[in-house]
Amino acid sequence: MKPYQYDTVIIGAGAAGLTLALRLPKHIQVAVLAKASLVESATLYAQGGISVVLDEDDSVNAHIDDTLSAGAGLCDQDTVRYVVENAKRSIEWLIDNGVAFTRHNDNENVYHLTKEGGHSHRRIIHSADATGHAVETTLAEQVRHAANIDVFDEHIAIDLITQNNRCVGAYVLNKGSHQIDIFSAKATVLATGGAGKVYLYTSNPDVSTGDGIAMAWRAGCRISNMEFIQFHPTCLYHPEAKSFLMTEALRGEGAKLRLPGGKSNEGKGEAFLHKFDPRGELAPRDIVARAIDHEIKRLGLDYVYLDISHRDTDFIIEHFPTVYERCKQFGFDLTKQAIPVVPAAHYICGGVVASINGRTDLSGLYAIGETACTGLHGANRMASNSLLECLVMADAAAEDITDLVAQLDYPNSLAPWDASRVTPSLETVEISHNWDELRRVMSDYVGIVRSNKRLELARKRIDNLKQEINDFYANHDITNDLIELRNLVTVADIIVRSAVTRRESRGLHYTLDYPEASDVIKNTYLSLSDD
Ligand code: FAD
Ligand code: SIN
Repeated sequence: MKPYQYDTVIIGAGAAGLTLALRLPKHIQVAVLAKASLVESATLYAQGGISVVLDEDDSVNAHIDDTLSAGAGLCDQDTVRYVVENAKRSIEWLIDNGVAFTRHNDNENVYHLTKEGGHSHRRIIHSADATGHAVETTLAEQVRHAANIDVFDEHIAIDLITQNNRCVGAYVLNKGSHQIDIFSAKATVLATGGAGKVYLYTSNPDVSTGDGIAMAWRAGCRISNMEFIQFHPTCLYHPEAKSFLMTEALRGEGAKLRLPGGKSNEGKGEAFLHKFDPRGELAPRDIVARAIDHEIKRLGLDYVYLDISHRDTDFIIEHFPTVYERCKQFGFDLTKQAIPVVPAAHYICGGVVASINGRTDLSGLYAIGETACTGLHGANRMASNSLLECLVMADAAAEDITDLVAQLDYPNSLAPWDASRVTPSLETVEISHNWDELRRVMSDYVGIVRSNKRLELARKRIDNLKQEINDFYANHDITNDLIELRNLVTVADIIVRSAVTRRESRGLHYTLDYPEASDVIKNTYLSLSDD
C-alpha cells in the first residue's frame, strides 16, 4: 500500500477537476485522479456549449431570470447571481488557455452564440457541436505539463478517510497494480461528475456512476434534491447507438420535434411541442421531455422525430459536424431526413450540499461540478449552465483551498486499508446481473413520470439489491465494477427516498399522485444520520 501526500487531492478530471487543478497556485502540490483515462468524462461529450452573456441585447439579469424560471422556485438566488456574474471571467480564462470557440461567419471578431431551451436570448458559446471535447482536451494537455500537478489516471477512489471530523484523503484502487493506495491531503475534492448510469438509458459515459455523492454520503455529508433527474429530450434512437445526444442547439437553430405517426398513423409528421408550451421546442427540458413521453405513451410509439432538414445543408454540416457524422454512421442523413429520438437520463440536479466555493458539511472536503448541489439549478437545470457551474465553482474553490492549505499541517499517518475480510471472487456475473437489474428498476419506476406505487416498487427492489451488494462488497475482492455498483445502489436509494419525500410535482419531479406544485417551497436534504 503506497502512501501519497499532497496539499490537494482532486478526485475527478472533468471540467470541474481540471479547472481547479489549473486555477490553484503553482506552490500547491496537487494530485488529479481519474478512474479511466484522463479525459474520459461527461465533459468530453458535452455538445451544445456554455451559457454566457456576450450579446449586447442580452443582460446578466435576463440570464438570472431564465435560470430561476427553469429552476421552478428552488434555485438559490445568491448562487445564481454569483455564477451568472462570473461567467464572462470563466470564458475569458478558457479562451486565454487556448479553447477555440466558434466565431461568427460574417465577423471573425465575434463569437457565434447559439440558443437552447429556457434561454430568452442567444447566449451559448460553443466549439461547433463538440464544446466539451475542446474544453477537456485543452485543459488536460495543460494539466499534464504542469510541474505542481501529478496525474493518476486509471485510479478509482473507494472511500474518503476522516480523522477527528475532518476529511484527510481517500483510499484509492490503482487499477493497473490492483493495489489500494492511501492519498493523504489537506484538502480533498470530489469532482466526480454525475450518476446517469443509474438508469438503463442515459446520455452519460460509463464513468458517471455517482461515486462522489456516495462517498460523501458514507462520510456523513448532507445530500440534497436528488429527485430532480434531468432527462434530455433528444437522444438518438438506434439499437446500436449506446448513448448519443442530439444537441439541444439543433432545436435552437430551428429543428422541430415531429410525430412519426402511431399505429393509426395519427399525427404523422406533425410538430406537437407548441400544444404543450408556447415556447415550443425551446421550452425548458422538463417540459419538452414530459411532452415527448406523453406522446410516446399516448400513441404507442418507440420514438419521435427530430427534424432540421429544412435548414441549409452547409449550415447543418458546419454547425453540427459531430452529430452529422454520427447519424451517418447509423444510416441517417441529418440534412435530408428526420432522426428518431427518445429522452434519456442526462443530468442530476441534486448532489453533495456545497457552497459556491465547494465547501461541504465535512471540513477538508470540497465538492464541485455536477457532484455538488449549490442551488444553481433548483428543480430543473437550464441548458448549458452545467459546464458554467463547473468553471465558476472551480475558480471560487481554488481561492478557498489556497487559504485552507496555508493554515494546515499534513494529516497524521492514516489508518491502512483493512483488507482482512476480503476473499477473492470469481462471481462477476452477480455484479453484472445486479447492475442490470438496478438500472432497469430505475428506468421502469423512477423515470419522467412517477407515482407512489412505482416508487414503492422501486424501493422494495432497491432494498434487496442494497443488501446483496453490501454483503458481496464486505466479503469479496474490490474491483472497479464492484466499487461502482455499490455507489450506484447508494445513489439509487437516495434518489427514490428523495422522490418519496416530495409530495408535489415541481420541475423535473412529476408524480401522478400529486400533479400540482405545493405552496410550500423546500429543498430535500437527506443524510446517513437519518437512516
Ligand atoms: P465529469 O466531466 O463527468 O468528470 C468526472 C470525472 O470524475 C472523470 O474524470 C471520472 O473519471 C472521475 N471519477 C468519477 N468517479 C471517480 C472515482 N471514484 N475515482 C476517481 N475518479 C473518478 N453541460 C453543459 O453545460 N453544456 C453542454 O453542452 C452539455 N452537453 C452535454 C452532453 C452530454 C452527452 C452529457 C453527458 C452532458 C452534457 N452536459 C452539458 C453536462 C456536463 O457535460 C456535465 O454536467 C459536466 O461536464 C460535468 O463535469 P464534471 O467535471 O462535474 O464531471
Ligand atoms: C446539449 O447540447 O443539448 C446539452 C446541453 C446541456 O446539457 O446543457
